[in-house]
Amino acid sequence: MSVNDENDVQTLLKRVKELEETISQQAVQLNEQKKKIESSKPISVDVHCKNMTRTVMVARSDKLEDIQGSIKSAFNLTTMPTLYLGEKQITEEYWASAPLFTSNVPKLIKCEIFSPWDVAGSEESGIDYDKLVTQFGLKHIDHELIERFERLTGMPAHPWLRRGFFYCHRGFDLILDHLEQGNIIYLYTGRGPSSTSLHLGHMIQFMFAKYLQDAFKCVLVIQMSNDEKFIFKKELSIEDVEHMTFENTKDVMACGFDPSRTFIFSDLDYIGAMYRPVLRLLKNTTAHTESKIYGFDGSSPAGFYTWPSIQAAPSFSCSFPHLFGPPYTDTTTGAAIGPCKPWNRKLKRKEEPKKEEEKEEKKAIETKEAAPKEEGGKVQKQKSASSSSSKGKGKGKSNESQWAVQCLIPCAIDQDPYFRMSLDLASSLGFPAPCTLYSRFVPDLSGGATKMSASAQLGASASNSDSASSSSTPSGKAAAAQGTPKTIFMSDTPKSIARAVNSGFSIGADTKKDQAENGAKIKDLKRDAAFSYLEIFDLETPDEELAELGRKYLAGAEGDPDESHLVMSGTIKQRLIKVLCDLAAKHQERRKAITDEQVRAMMRLRPLDIKRLIEEKAKEAQMEKEKECEKKDEAEKETEKKE
Ligand code: TRP
Repeated sequence: MSVNDENDVQTLLKRVKELEETISQQAVQLNEQKKKIESSKPISVDVHCKNMTRTVMVARSDKLEDIQGSIKSAFNLTTMPTLYLGEKQITEEYWASAPLFTSNVPKLIKCEIFSPWDVAGSEESGIDYDKLVTQFGLKHIDHELIERFERLTGMPAHPWLRRGFFYCHRGFDLILDHLEQGNIIYLYTGRGPSSTSLHLGHMIQFMFAKYLQDAFKCVLVIQMSNDEKFIFKKELSIEDVEHMTFENTKDVMACGFDPSRTFIFSDLDYIGAMYRPVLRLLKNTTAHTESKIYGFDGSSPAGFYTWPSIQAAPSFSCSFPHLFGPPYTDTTTGAAIGPCKPWNRKLKRKEEPKKEEEKEEKKAIETKEAAPKEEGGKVQKQKSASSSSSKGKGKGKSNESQWAVQCLIPCAIDQDPYFRMSLDLASSLGFPAPCTLYSRFVPDLSGGATKMSASAQLGASASNSDSASSSSTPSGKAAAAQGTPKTIFMSDTPKSIARAVNSGFSIGADTKKDQAENGAKIKDLKRDAAFSYLEIFDLETPDEELAELGRKYLAGAEGDPDESHLVMSGTIKQRLIKVLCDLAAKHQERRKAITDEQVRAMMRLRPLDIKRLIEEKAKEAQMEKEKECEKKDEAEKETEKKE
């Protein structure tokens, strides 16, 4: 070999080594890239939410928010759900250890969500109502409270109180204290118009408000929150929600509210009058707090954050200055609007006022007494409105507290977040916190862990597709064509009511023989849609009779050979169909009789008959006194005679 050849070989070997190094470097790089691609691939998990299980692709992210976000959009939720892996809640820390991405972990995520827009229990058994009472700091309605209410109002307790459908409260005892002291109170409830007809679930709070209004003979204000529905429902236009407001108001009015004591207002029209308290609430709430309370996140529209203050505001009486004061001057006409002096002189606080406050209060009352006389709901002068009070100072506080009238809100428990927020803000703003009375939900006809909804009305065949959640018209031809209706609207025909009821989840045995021998298949009446509905809507049947019917349904024939005595799932359903058809027919008749002019009159800004209860109470007391005097006189005469 020549020297030259030797050099060539050396160079070649060097070159080969270099190439080998490059190749192995590239292999390492490729491997890394491959790993990166693998780990960024979304993984598929099964998610159980709102009574259905769906496969959801979730990105591998160490942020819990990202996973919640994927599930939120997969199930069309408005707010972020709480997630569980098995029994374990997925917290930030738990998520950071990324158990979902290791292969030996079950990939079924369960969702729990409880917000005013989405309600879903994580378990088959449904919503844990007792847990909500503890979680939200509420109290159960007990016998004693019901008896006190009956004694005070002279009205028998509503079946919904007796049967535990309206089951918890915050401060209902305080309302009864006020009534005992002769103070006035007012009722507040509302409806977000998102369909042209109300469904059975929507009617509850209005039927109950009607009952309470009759019992307390007080003013009732009803918020038609068309702004809420416009903001929260992507598919609705302002024109849509305005139209729905008018139609829904007719449904609400069909409950028979007394126009001299009821004010129904559309937020779109009325917002200016209650803008002052709305502003105070907005100023004192942070976006961070709202995100926590309601499950909003950075991607939520800004309108989400303003909405809660608009629902909370009517729970403070100063949102209705024309009814409760403080009076104000209409800039355009110069007219004074509102009462001339506060309605409640003796409004006692729960805690004893401190000495300093006592002095201030005395001063405030003196100013009130010096206020000018009222004339037809209008005020001549408004000295008292600007009278100084300790509440007038500080961060956006006002002198409105002396005009405060206590509010009571009857509604379903999912609305509590708003009024918990009012509670927190009330003391810092110097307003009394609203009291509440909460009901359970009218369940979904499928017997599941969610509430009846205007937007999820199609049965199993359609509910698996995303289209189910976009429907917002009453169950009519469309529902009939696509599946069984899940929701019963007040405008439904008997035929469509029957179809919905018959499609409902039932615990009954499959055959007559089975039912006779063993009774119901599942021994839990709460799971039976028709029976749960009977407990809510059959208000005529005595409680004991209904309980006996349920007992027989669970037990079977118990040796009784008479087939006509056997309670089958069909027996319950037939009974319910009759009750609901009756309810709907009566409603439709009353609704038809309401004219557009009557609707407009109900929504007009006007003074209402606020004092009736107090006057009636005073009259009653006067009559009692007179009777007692007469008795005394007679007794005296008797003794005189004897002597
Ligand atoms: N947010 C309620 C809904 O979606 C409507 C509503 C407005 C309401 N104000 C209220 C309900 C006060 C109860 C109490 O339908």
